[in-house]
Amino acid sequence: MTLQQFIQQMPKVELHLHIEGTLEPELMFALAQRNRMDLPFKSVQKVREAYHFTNLQSFLDIYYQGAQVLVAEQDFYDLMWAYLKKASEQNVRHAEIFFDPQTHTERGIPFEVVIQGLTRAREDAERQMGITSELILCFLRHLSPEAALKTLEDAYPYREKILGVGLDSSEQGRPPSLFTEVFKQAKDQSYRIVAHAGEEGPAEYVWEAIRLLGVQRIDHGVRSIEDPELIDYLVENQIALTVCPLSNLKLCVFEEMGQHNLKQLLDLGVRVTINSDDPAYFGGYLNENFLATQAGLDLSLADLHQISRNAIEASFLGEAEKQLLRAELDQYFQRD
Ligand code: ADE
Ligand code: ZN
Repeated sequence: MTLQQFIQQMPKVELHLHIEGTLEPELMFALAQRNRMDLPFKSVQKVREAYHFTNLQSFLDIYYQGAQVLVAEQDFYDLMWAYLKKASEQNVRHAEIFFDPQTHTERGIPFEVVIQGLTRAREDAERQMGITSELILCFLRHLSPEAALKTLEDAYPYREKILGVGLDSSEQGRPPSLFTEVFKQAKDQSYRIVAHAGEEGPAEYVWEAIRLLGVQRIDHGVRSIEDPELIDYLVENQIALTVCPLSNLKLCVFEEMGQHNLKQLLDLGVRVTINSDDPAYFGGYLNENFLATQAGLDLSLADLHQISRNAIEASFLGEAEKQLLRAELDQYFQRD
């Protein structure tokens, strides 16, 4: 068996995936047509050619523009269905999926339209393909803390459809401390807590996410390496980092895969995981992320085993589900 086949067949868990970031150009065109909207691109090919980013913001500008084709409940359904089908084909067993309601409510799309479309597709996918999933609502940090509080209120009637809350979008100059109140209220409502931190922003933002927001894991967090005390804390408390290697390359967080610090973090004992972030924009889903990282950092089978185990442990699955996945994974790595 080739390494590619081994990674393809390995049972996997994905913990850092923005559903809006799975919008492939083909679906973007189909939805634009269905909703009678014009796109600033002539063809699928032209869209792909526009995907050259220099930093996080240059990506976000195109990503928010692309999301405008999502209008009706069926559009959100089709988006979620397409991702879960692809993930299931890649042997992803479970995914904890971000959505950005403000990207849609700001354009006048009701919260209900978004959540019902996404939820219905998740339920159908679990029934028909066996893949389990959860939703994590992300607040957009380029918008105000008041807007985040309003979004938490919008979510209240759908509380049981949403597992957790997170924080994403432009990081620099938007420290987690701005959002302390909304995360406190989310915690009071028993949401699981995560946040993007230390992607482009400093290690200090990771500390703030831990101390002020009370996160259970950190999304990205690669700049934690700049603070040895923070690394010690992450190791001691086994706070996971949901690392997204192809994203980091496309957004110029690292120049090439050989320079990525994932292996260094792993060797230090940090609970690192591999994820795809926005696969339609960054050139690969979970398998492609595993493959590129393995090749760039010369990861061993033991490394792949540890990273996959980390994702199970860092997930919000119950103990019984974790136990089943652990057993399946350990058995997979034991065969010849
Ligand atoms: N939204 C979608 N992808 C993101 C990323 N990599 N960082 C911050 N916000 C995002
Ligand atoms: Zn992300």
